[in-house]
Amino acid sequence: MKFIVKKGNIAEFKSEAVVIPHFEDVKELKGKAKLLDKKSSGLIKEIISGGDFEGKHLQVTVTHTRGSIPAKRIVLVGIGKKADFTLEKLRGAYATAAKQVRSLKLKEFSTSLDFVSINQPSGQTAQAIVEGVSLGLYQFTPFKTVERDKIREIKEFTIVEEKDESCITIRSSAKAAEIISNAVYFTRDMVSTPGNSMTPTGMAEEARKVAKRKNVILKVFDEAWMKKNGMNALLGVAQGSNEPARFIVLEYKGGKQGDPVIALVGKAITFDSGGISLKPAEKMGEMKSDMAGGAAVMGAIMAAVDLRLKVNVVVLIPATENLPGGRAYKPGDVLRSLSGQTIEIISTDAEGRLTLADALTYAGRFKPAAIVDVATLTGACVIALGDNVIGMMGTDDILKQKIRNAAAKTSERVWELPLWEDYHELIKSDIADYKNTGGRAGGAITAAAFLSKFVGKYPWVHLDIAGPAWLEKDQPYMPKGASGVGVRLLVQFLKDWQKKGKN
Ligand code: BES
Ligand code: MN
Ligand code: ZN
Repeated sequence: MKFIVKKGNIAEFKSEAVVIPHFEDVKELKGKAKLLDKKSSGLIKEIISGGDFEGKHLQVTVTHTRGSIPAKRIVLVGIGKKADFTLEKLRGAYATAAKQVRSLKLKEFSTSLDFVSINQPSGQTAQAIVEGVSLGLYQFTPFKTVERDKIREIKEFTIVEEKDESCITIRSSAKAAEIISNAVYFTRDMVSTPGNSMTPTGMAEEARKVAKRKNVILKVFDEAWMKKNGMNALLGVAQGSNEPARFIVLEYKGGKQGDPVIALVGKAITFDSGGISLKPAEKMGEMKSDMAGGAAVMGAIMAAVDLRLKVNVVVLIPATENLPGGRAYKPGDVLRSLSGQTIEIISTDAEGRLTLADALTYAGRFKPAAIVDVATLTGACVIALGDNVIGMMGTDDILKQKIRNAAAKTSERVWELPLWEDYHELIKSDIADYKNTGGRAGGAITAAAFLSKFVGKYPWVHLDIAGPAWLEKDQPYMPKGASGVGVRLLVQFLKDWQKKGKN
């Protein structure tokens, strides 16, 4: 899909449909909306005053303009009350409008920032609009072979803007939004792809796509390398599967030599059956998405590269399946991690933290200024915070605040859970240093407490995305299934890091 920013007057712009967002409590039309209304002999006013359209958030109506204006249709979309306005509402509104346009089998549509009369910088507004349109139209279709002609795709979306300087700002923001959306698509595609295709080797192939870019180095390590280096926690999980594990390292040097490195670590269990501690059969298929953390950090570094962010990033992805089998690791086993510390296995279904333990230790080799790990780690986090929130735990207040700031800007919401001392008691083992589960109570937290043992002295934040990574229901700009959560959050975090440095 092409995103175009064109200089001109939206009231004179020819297109199949023009999207006009409208506040619920602003009755007066202004600017170009007023002009369009006048040209169409009061069409917009009529729809609003007739009560057909109130402007409630996500409400849409489509009207034909019958030649009165160059745009064939007006798509009114509600953005709620003016006082409650957020960019997140705009993302949702434009996604909803775009899906409506697609359902009408149209190939192209347009809008103007002039309709959104709010006190927001035009760049941010444009970015939210393009993100909404792009992310909302996502479809995962590579495995559909019949009636492919019924798959509808919009080819072009144009933002029309009169002022020259605004055109420049909007163009660069639209471009940024396009890059970020592409990365989210990349992540969603990986997560949607079934486990028989998106194997650890498959993930390494995806990493190769990122590594085609400038200033990116990829290393893919195999099990022999893991063995030689002592990544026995990761290898323990991989033991039950015939599918070989991979340790994927992607480095992006966008900053100066010697600038601090940010390490992004992503859980990548390409299928989590639970292993010998087998999961119930119901919805087990959804555990193909247990690599969403790894996919998110890969998407984030891809966007960072394409946005040419001036930061040094290393992405670490321990990728493996978790299956039961004759050679599988078992409850009661003790594994010696890369850190040298030993782990007693209570449940083979608490596998993500084992793979992350070794990856977090390995991250220390880069002497990172920050480590952020992203993982579909615990069902307990979903119980604590619900489907739509990322659980945050960590050791560094400044880093946590940076993540919170990025969350506020992107609306990928995070909420902190405590990592107090007493939680650490719960993961002490009788025969080894730690055990890999701390019981049902505080499950998201004891998982993070476990991870903290392998981080070393570096500032670290853990993001549990078990809730939002895979959606049960459609949301305005996220179809059900893979959400790509984490990508926008991390990209914003890296962008802000680049601007403000360590503070
Ligand atoms: N991948 C799961 C966590 C998960 C659950 C993600 C639901 C998304 C949706 C993880 O490996 C797991 O199985 N965790 C266990 C830990 C338990 C055995 C301590 C859990 O949450 O039940
Ligand atoms: Mn598991
Ligand atoms: Zn898992």
